[in-house]
Amino acid sequence: TRPIRVAPSLLAADFARLGEEVRAVAAAGADWLHLDIMDGHFVPNISFGPGLVKALRKHAAIPFDVHLMIAPADPYLQAFAEAGADLISLHPEAGAHLHRSLQTIRGLGRKSGVVLNPATPVSAVENVLDLCDLILVMSVNPGFGGQSFIASQLGKIAILRQMIDAHVAQGGQEIALQVDGGVTAETAPRCIEAGADVLVAGTAVFGKPDYAAAIAAIRGAA
Ligand code: DX5
Ligand code: ZN
Repeated sequence: TRPIRVAPSLLAADFARLGEEVRAVAAAGADWLHLDIMDGHFVPNISFGPGLVKALRKHAAIPFDVHLMIAPADPYLQAFAEAGADLISLHPEAGAHLHRSLQTIRGLGRKSGVVLNPATPVSAVENVLDLCDLILVMSVNPGFGGQSFIASQLGKIAILRQMIDAHVAQGGQEIALQVDGGVTAETAPRCIEAGADVLVAGTAVFGKPDYAAAIAAIRGAA
């Protein structure tokens, strides 16, 4: 069985105490920190930018997983790399040349990811697998925390698990399979069963009084 990593989404944290919140989830067993970047254009909400990512970087040593919901994304890749992102993922719809964007992220020395919206088919990523360190399946429409899990995305996770396993069997690099949106202790087991190995959770971590217990419950270790 593959190790399951939990990436709390900072979007659901107390924005008035972000440094403290980052330290708290890292101490509570978070594997990665998921940072949602929203521009009010690609998605109907605005969150924060590279300046905040940089300010938080010194508060924890865990990998920073930056999910870009911005268009265009290319002009900002370097800023997020320099701010301390370890992994930068973007949506195929955010630019005309996904292959080039992924090459740019790799060229900046960072890990790269492709994010599939609920209506975006797996074919959007299948010709760039060699440039992906992560594929993220959105199980809500991006823009807001606290939405309900869209169960139709479980089939997409299963197809991508087969695609990734075949890619690795043919000598390709490992690719993490992440799910984001409405992930809770109740929906997480279905995501894991379908083949996901990185679980993003905002409300289901920061909305609970005990972050360590919440993370353990999502991981399935509770
Ligand atoms: C949605 C974001 C998610 C969000 C998840 O656009 O990409 O990362 O923070 O929040 P929950 O876990 O509350 O659905
Ligand atoms: Zn996200």
